Parts: sequence; C-alpha cells; structure tokens
Amino acid sequence: MYKLPELSYGYDSLQPYISREIMELHHKKHHQTYIDKVNAALESAPSSFKDLPIEDLLKRLDEAPEEIRQVVRNNGGGHYNHSFFWDIMTPGGNTISDNFAKLLGGKYGTVDGFKEAFSNRATAVFGSGWAWLMPDLSIVTTPNQDNPIMDGEPAPILGLDVWEHAYYLDYKNVRPDYITAWWKVVDWTEVERRYRTHLD
Ligand SMILES: [Fe+2]
Repeated sequence: MYKLPELSYGYDSLQPYISREIMELHHKKHHQTYIDKVNAALESAPSSFKDLPIEDLLKRLDEAPEEIRQVVRNNGGGHYNHSFFWDIMTPGGNTISDNFAKLLGGKYGTVDGFKEAFSNRATAVFGSGWAWLMPDLSIVTTPNQDNPIMDGEPAPILGLDVWEHAYYLDYKNVRPDYITAWWKVVDWTEVERRYRTHLD
C-alpha cells in the first residue's frame, strides 16, 4: 500500500509562483487519487508484485497482470512523478552550484540556454505530460503519467508537471507563464544531488 508523502514545506510556501490553492489540491486530491487507484488495482496482484517500492514497480510493469497493467502504469506513475515533483521544489528556489552550472553550460551554452530549451520542450508537450532532465543532461518528455524509468531509462534528475491541473487555477491556459514562474522554486541542490547519486 502506497501512502501520500508529506511535503517538506507548507502549501503556501511556494507562493507567489504556485498558489496555496494549487498546492493543496494537487497534493491532497490529485496525488492522493493516483495512490488510491494504484492501491486498489494492486489488491488482486501477487504480493511479490504489490509490495515493491514504487520505483521498482514502474521498472517491472511488464510483470503486472495484463488486466491491471495500464491502470498501474497511469496511477503508479502518477504517484512516483508527483512524489518526485514535490522533492525538486523548495520555497524561493535556490542557486545552481558553479559546478553544475558549468555542466549545463557545456551542453546548452549557458544555464539560461538550458532553461530556454527545457521550457520550450515543456511548452510543446501536447496535452498532459511531463518534461524531464535526464542524468546525461538530455531533455525528454513523456505523455500522461509516464516516466522514462518505465522504458528502462535511468531516473530523471528534474521534472516538470505540465498537466493543466498543475497551473490552471493560477495561470489559466498560459502554460509558458507557469513554466517561467516554476523556475523560481526549483531546488537545484536536490537536482544536483540526484545527478551525483546517478554517477555513484
Ligand atoms: Fe500533477
């Protein structure tokens, strides 16, 4: 049984970039619903499968009974992606280390060049999905609640939820404004920690 992780910051602490209303709804309602649905789908699954840590579950979706595979993919993915998303944000954001800035600059010219490339990919996601920065510093996108780990790729180190539920209350249909604001709350220390963890 998966459980809703507690946030390490308050619902109102990402303001003014992400409102308390969005954070509360996104965490308590949307994220909780993914968890409820994946737990319900797994009730009938073999215990060897349903007791897996969420990351392992998503890496082994092909072992899921076929009748629950898609619902586990969608809702297990929703649980994993949102848990990840809360962790790579922090009130007020923080600065990129010189070292990590140099790495991003090596691939994208400058940190701003990286942000622009990432923002463009995130803006271009058709419908609901995510944009990810991978440990090799490439940018990928996934539809729905898919995650690169479902395809045998390593875990991303940064990710952005571009479902409308993530921004509609604050930014209506203007996804680029949400993305611009979101950069202000990115926890670069955590992103770099995930990058280093992948190297180890
Ligand atoms: Fe979301």
